[in-house]
Amino acid sequence: MLLLGLLVTGGLYATLAPATAEETSNQEDLVAEGRELFLLGCSFCHGQNGEGVLTQEGAQLGPALAGTGAAAVDFQVGTGRMPLVQTSAQAPSKPEIYSQDQIDALAAFVASLGPGPAIPEESDYSTEGLSPEERAEAEARGGQIFLTNCTACHNFAGSGGAMPRGGYAPTIRGVDPKYIYEAMLTGPQSMDNFSNGNIPPESKRDVIAYIESLEEKPGYGGFGLGGLGPVAEGLFAWVVGVGSLVGFAIWIAAHTTRTSRKKKSELAAEGADA
Ligand code: HEC
Ligand code: HEC
Repeated sequence: MLLLGLLVTGGLYATLAPATAEETSNQEDLVAEGRELFLLGCSFCHGQNGEGVLTQEGAQLGPALAGTGAAAVDFQVGTGRMPLVQTSAQAPSKPEIYSQDQIDALAAFVASLGPGPAIPEESDYSTEGLSPEERAEAEARGGQIFLTNCTACHNFAGSGGAMPRGGYAPTIRGVDPKYIYEAMLTGPQSMDNFSNGNIPPESKRDVIAYIESLEEKPGYGGFGLGGLGPVAEGLFAWVVGVGSLVGFAIWIAAHTTRTSRKKKSELAAEGADA
């Protein structure tokens, strides 16, 4: 029995061990590749080991990255926010310059610096498998979460809005579901961090379903004006509403009997003819 036990254990080890070793070496290769890319494109601001860089005046060129996790890198580089071009109030999204493979490598490198949230699985954020009923339920639940947690900054229709110190919360309509999930998970810039303990993965997917429904919703109540809220609507009321009233008043004034009365000289000329 002992011999058999040893044989089985040994056999199992022999078949399983090389696979895991290969996996680790793959992971190591990925981290090494990520490190190369990081040294070239990111270390200028984030330091060679992602420790962050301070300028001589004590301002931050780039924050420390240990513990931000793979999800933060996938979000920041995947939406083109990183590499940042210049330090400013906002890190805007722009066309990304790294391929997804390179982003995965960068993410593996940053994840190797310290534990942080991993890149979510497609099953976490994709709403594609939902039946129409399930989707309607998810939208209703997600709407509740969205209205209590996100509208303060991103507005009721997800159109975004101004933030303190010259920043802004961008529009979140038309954003890839994966990046919506990662934004919640990692809280970029001044956005709050909605960890999985705070909003569990299923609820994050509900929020995504709700944001997707915003894109499909027809504009009840006429012109949406970009869903920007009272400022845009007020401006519209002033310029178009009051403007057309003023125009109408001028038109009336130009067409009354008083203004169309003939001038004295014209009358005199008519009198002479008579
Ligand atoms: C010009 C400087 C600069 C470069 C280059 C740059 N970053 Fe950044 N990075 C920043 C700054 C500044 C922030 C902080 C943004 C903020 O929160 O306002 C930041 C934030 C981040 C964050 C989010 C950190 C967090 O706490 O969530 C990640 C992840 C990141 N950078 C990764 C990268 C990667 C990967 C690269 C290279 C492809 C890169 N950065 C290149 C300046 C830079
Ligand atoms: C305190 C204000 C604030 C709250 C609350 C907030 N956000 Fe944000 N959000 C921001 C800011 C600011 C950014 C831009 C960050 C950047 O550019 O790096 C952002 C970015 C995003 C993005 C990325 C958009 C893009 O263009 O890639 C998504 C998606 C997002 N938020 C979703 C949400 C959701 C969903 C919630 C609610 C669960 C939420 N946010 C709550 C301020 C906020």
